[in-house]
Formats: sequence, structure tokens, C-alpha cells
Amino acid sequence: MAAHMRAAVLAGPRRIELAEVERPRPGPGEVLVRLHGCGVCGSNLAPWQGRAWFTYPFAPGVPGHEGWGVVERLGAGVDGLVEGQRVALLSGAAFAQYDLAAADRVLPIPEALTGPFPGEALGCAVNVFRRAAIGQGDTVAVVGAGFLGLMVLRLAALAGARVLALSRRETSLALARRLGADEAIPTGDPGAAEARVRDLTGGRLCRVVVEAIGSQEALDLASRLVAEGGRLAIAGYHQDGPRTVDMQSWNWRGIDVVNAHERDPAVQREGVLAAARLVAEGRLDPGPLYRSFPLDRLADAFQAMEERPDGFVKALVTP
Ligand SMILES: NC(=O)c1ccc[n+]([C@@H]2O[C@H](COP(=O)([O-])OP(=O)(O)OC[C@H]3O[C@@H](n4cnc5c(N)ncnc54)[C@H](OP(=O)(O)O)[C@@H]3O)[C@@H](O)[C@H]2O)c1
Repeated sequence: MAAHMRAAVLAGPRRIELAEVERPRPGPGEVLVRLHGCGVCGSNLAPWQGRAWFTYPFAPGVPGHEGWGVVERLGAGVDGLVEGQRVALLSGAAFAQYDLAAADRVLPIPEALTGPFPGEALGCAVNVFRRAAIGQGDTVAVVGAGFLGLMVLRLAALAGARVLALSRRETSLALARRLGADEAIPTGDPGAAEARVRDLTGGRLCRVVVEAIGSQEALDLASRLVAEGGRLAIAGYHQDGPRTVDMQSWNWRGIDVVNAHERDPAVQREGVLAAARLVAEGRLDPGPLYRSFPLDRLADAFQAMEERPDGFVKALVTP
């Protein structure tokens, strides 16, 4: 008889059902992971809220893609991993008790890392940091102190950059300060935020600016903060239609513009492994940013993401 598992099914906009479904079996080259948890990504919010182009119901466990857990079973031909080993996986159906991934999408977690590890999300932060090419002594503005922005600004501070954090909520700014931002600037009045950055940089603005929100307003503000010859790293997903930019101003200042999104699986993997090392060494400590929800309260996790109550940054679900 086939084994079963519990999985969350996004049955329709704002409607999640818990289903008992057949547990997937690893085919050749695949690994079955018993999940300890899965992060809830900002990009999961659109399917939860509903958009015309989505077809419901989603497959069980979809769109969870920030899972971690232990190897349950290896498919034929897989070596380099052992059953019981703690891993993060780059998969797509991790709002469940188990998920499958190709062996090269299953990344070992160091023993010293004992807590939750939504590897995909942290790997993205490492890769954004790398693509932004932040170096010692750079003045760096991070626009948006959400999970991604906070992790990137922490890495920038570790690299010896001078970090200016810009965000909307006071609680996000307080977290930014705790994680090493030298200055925390509210964005409620974008003109005042820009003036503050000018003041703090003697009018030169910032060598590197990371946009980590994904809105037109954030892109506008981030664009205005880049120094002549500086770099704008766009980390936010701009998913809701075309954007406009002040091309003349980009041209005049001769800035580099980087779309800090990694599609190359090898780079994604390396980002997760690097993030795992940083967390294991205690250099990156995302623990205080997490709020855990049991799988049967995934809807509450989405609601928290939508309402962003004070102090809330990142939801994890545990099966
Ligand atoms: N490049 C990549 O590889 C990658 C990876 C993951 C995510 N992303 C994208 O990066 C962006 C941030 O992701 P995240 O995981 O950090 O999300 P998150 O934790 O939900 O943070 C969202 C950020 O957006 C701000 N924000 C939300 N609604 C806003 C509004 N109406 N006006 C102004 N600011 C608003 C929040 O500011 P406050 O906290 O101050 O309210 C916070 O800084 C998203 O676009 C996400 O899709 C990119």
C-alpha cells in the first residue's frame, strides 16, 4: 500500500485545504526529503491573494520552495548523500511533510546549524550580495529592510561597508540597526529620505544601492541614491507590470544596473551552501526574524505576510 503524507493545497484565492495525499517516491537521481519546515516567500503572496493567470487548485505543497529537513530515501544512482542527513532543498512543493528534488538540488546543512534553515531564501540573499559586489569601505544603501534586505545589509556590514538602511516601518528600521546598519532612514517621505542620504554622504550619494522591495516607488528612490559611477542592484521582483525609469539620470551618472536574480542552478546551489556556512559560523543570524506556524495554519502565515504586524519579518511553516 502506498504511503501517505499531509500537504497544504492552495485550493483557490485565500483558501488552503490540508489534504492526505500519496507520498512521492524518488525516481532515479532524485531524493525524498522529510521536511522539518519551509519558509514562506514574498512571491507566494500573489498566488495566495489570487491573480487572473493562476489556475487553482495548485498541486499539493506548491508553491513552497524554501524547504529543509532530512533525507528520507535516495533514488537509484544517487551518491554523496545519506539517509538521515540534514539538508536544504531547492524544490517546489514543500508546504507538505515530504518533497522530492533532483540530487543536485539537495544541499547538506553543516552539523553546527541546528535551527531552521529556509535555504533558498538565504541563498538568494548571498547571491544578491555577491551580484551587488559590495566591498570594504563602500557606502551602501539598502532600500527595503524586509527579510532579503536585512540579510543583504548584514552581509554588507560584515564586509566592512558603511550601510544605510531605508524602510517604511520603524520596527524594520530597528532590526536593520540591530543587524549592523550604520543609519536607518524612514521612507515615508521619499524626498526627505533622499535628502538625508545626501547629508550623510556629503552629497556624493552611495557607491552601491540595493533595491529590495519590488515596487515602482522603491525603484525610483533607489535610483536617486546611486552615486556617479555607482551600482544599482535590483533585488526586488517587479512582477506587476512594466516599470519606468529616469533613463537620462541613469545615463548622466553612468551607473551600472544589475538585476540580482539568479537563474543558473549552479549559482543557486552555491548561494545556499555559502548561506549555510555563514549561519553555522554564527555570522548570519536570521533566527530572530522567523515566526513559525504549523502547516495547518499556513493561511495565518500568509495573512501575517500581508498585514505585516509590527516585528513580523519572515514566516516559516512546520509540518
Ligand atoms: N533577488 C532575489 O533573488 C529575491 C529573492 C527573494 C525575494 N525577492 C524579492 O525581493 C523583495 C523583498 O523580498 P523579501 O523576502 O525581503 O520580502 P519581505 O520580507 O516581505 O519584505 C518586503 C519589503 O518591502 C517593504 N514593503 C512592503 N510593502 C510595502 C509598501 N506598500 N510600501 C513600501 N514598502 C513596502 C517592507 O518594508 P517594511 O518592512 O519597512 O514595511 C519590506 O522592506 C520582493 O520583491 C521579493 O519578491 C528577490
